[in-house]
Amino acid sequence: MNTVVSGIRSTGNLHLGNYYGALKNFIRMQENNRCFFFIADYHSLTTHPDPTILYPNVKSVLTEYLACGLDPEKSAIYIQSDVPEVVELYLMLNMHAYLGELTKTVSFKDKARKQPENVNAGLLTYPTLMAADILIHNADQVPVGKDQLQHLEMTRNFAKRFNNFYKVEYFKEPMAYNDGTEPIKIPGLDGSGKMGKSEGNCIYLADDAKTIEKKVKKALTDQGPTEMNSPKPDCIENLFTIMKVVSTPDTVQYFDEKWNTCEIRYGDLKKQLAADIIAATEPIREQIAYIDAHPEILHKAVTRGKELARESASKTIKEVREIMGFRNF
Ligand code: TRP
Repeated sequence: MNTVVSGIRSTGNLHLGNYYGALKNFIRMQENNRCFFFIADYHSLTTHPDPTILYPNVKSVLTEYLACGLDPEKSAIYIQSDVPEVVELYLMLNMHAYLGELTKTVSFKDKARKQPENVNAGLLTYPTLMAADILIHNADQVPVGKDQLQHLEMTRNFAKRFNNFYKVEYFKEPMAYNDGTEPIKIPGLDGSGKMGKSEGNCIYLADDAKTIEKKVKKALTDQGPTEMNSPKPDCIENLFTIMKVVSTPDTVQYFDEKWNTCEIRYGDLKKQLAADIIAATEPIREQIAYIDAHPEILHKAVTRGKELARESASKTIKEVREIMGFRNF
């Protein structure tokens, strides 16, 4: 069985794009892999979050992931800062991480540009912390988006370098998770290619029905088709793409025909789309409310997750210490 590790950013609410993209994939993964999913709260320190929002952020991210179906019975779901072994491995890997490669990392250069007043060492060594997250469980695979591929490549380099330096074959070189399926991409409501928090074009899972209706109503459309069977412009294609995910095939076909015959009314399309998004996400909102009312669910999940993660992590640290020459007196 393959070991899969993935870190989850500890800020921000989940939107439709996260859910139908990464998260559905996670939920499938836990069926036939040994999965470790953790909330990366240490990583969030690189931007110096207000201490009073650190915990509420972690709590809301955890709640939403559980509400969507991450299952503590199937996966180890834990908080990064609950597993101190990660920090020890991070320190050790840092001794073999070089300034040149760290300063060249795209995410570092981006952040350094965005927060020039706070270019701290944690930002610089973000990739070694991420490598420690992955190597602490000697993962085979890591589900990552394009923006994280460089970090994963660096993880493989750190693993190889460790093995070469200590003349062992200890760490595996973790690969991007791939089960042969393409993750679903949810487009934005503003005609853009991708739904994203920074784009401000999102429908969040925690949005209530009214908010969803309002957002869909405001989605970008054009003047409407003037010729039969004409290709759809991006903004309209996007609405159909979302519809294909949340609506029945009959509904999609109905509006497709209306488009082709130039009889489409965007008001009707949007009404239907909003109703279907609301219906598709309603069980998640119910689950979020349920977890909010039963905080012991979170406690139980992360207590179990911490146990599983520390069991795996302490084994790695013991072996790594041995390899590096640490001995007990
Ligand atoms: N850097 C990842 C992101 O921004 C989060 C992350 C931290 C991660 N540690 C990880 C992802 C380990 C995969 C494996 O999304």
